Order: sequence, then structure tokens, then C-alpha cells
Amino acid sequence: MQINPDNIRDFRNALGGFPTGVTIITAQGGNGALAGMTASSFNTVSMDPPLILWSITRGATYFPVFDEASHFSVNVLAEDQQELSNGFAKEGKKPFDGISFGTGLGGAPLFDGCVAQFQCETWAKYDGGDHVIIVGKVIEFESSDKTPLVFAGGGYKLLTN
Ligand SMILES: Cc1cc2nc3c(=O)[nH]c(=O)nc-3n(C[C@H](O)[C@H](O)[C@H](O)COP(=O)(O)O)c2cc1C
Repeated sequence: MQINPDNIRDFRNALGGFPTGVTIITAQGGNGALAGMTASSFNTVSMDPPLILWSITRGATYFPVFDEASHFSVNVLAEDQQELSNGFAKEGKKPFDGISFGTGLGGAPLFDGCVAQFQCETWAKYDGGDHVIIVGKVIEFESSDKTPLVFAGGGYKLLTN
């Protein structure tokens, strides 16, 4: 069907047919405040230099922080981190209180128990309509053998072999 203002819901549903992992992207604002939001738009870009990307809606509470941040961290969530994902997908202030995390480059929070983590320097930003596409150059990374959380069809899925 041709896309039009009346079938945006169908368009979103169609996009949901593409399964992704789930990340929480974090940064620290100039005033020291911590920013974090759940994002499934993360993807790989380049090996040399090592680049990754994600996209953020311009309307996000923390858009100004990520738009200005020199560094950010990508926390790739494990299958047992759905609650953490939900906490950072809520509108408004995000629940850093009571959560255990370390501090990465630029002060970006690094959560315990993730599948992988990528600490990045902001490399480029591109206009992406109502989103901005942020490309990061990976400076440090960690990985584990944990099973990743998956998002598809508007909900969380578990990988089974
Ligand atoms: C699984 C999942 C993936 C998401 N991926 C993105 C994303 O890639 N980019 C984005 O801007 N928002 C994404 N969101 C929405 C943000 O997490 C959410 O809108 C934001 O945290 C809401 O708070 P805010 O309106 O205060 O910013 C995603 C939400 C969920 C549940």
C-alpha cells in the first residue's frame, strides 16, 4: 500500500516485523545530570574506523544532552533486563536511583549484567526527519556470553535455539 497519514499505524507495525536487540544509551549532561534511554535503533556501521549508530527522537527528554554530548555509552541488554529496559523507556526522569552502574567515558553510566557495552565518542550527527542519527566511534568495548533481549512486533521476545 502507498504510505499516507492514515496508515502510519500499519507502517509502524510493518517496521516492527524487523527484530532488534534492545539497548540503553547513556550520557552525562554538562550540568552533571545523567541521561539514559531505551533504544532499539542501534546498529553497526564500520570496522575501520569502528563506528556504530543509533537514532533519537527530537522530542526525547534527553535529546539536548545527547545532541551535545562528546561521549555516550551503549548498554546492550540481556534477556533478564526487561525491567531495566522498561524503566528507561518511561517518559520523564529515568530511574538511575537504586540501580547499580559504573561510569564510562564522559561520565556515561555503564550498567551491570549487559551482553555488551560500547563506549563511544560522538563522531557525526545526521538529520533523520523527526529523529537525529548519531554515529559514535567506539573507544572501548566489553562483551559477555549472556543471551540478548530481543524486541519485535511491539514486544519483548526471548531467543530460543
Ligand atoms: C524497545 C524500545 C526501543 C526504543 N527505541 C528508541 C530509539 O531507538 N530511539 C528513540 O528515540 N526512542 C526509542 N524508544 C523510546 C524511548 O525509550 C522513550 O520514548 C523515551 O525514553 C520516553 O521518554 P521521554 O519521552 O521522556 O524521552 C524505544 C522504546 C522502547 C520500549
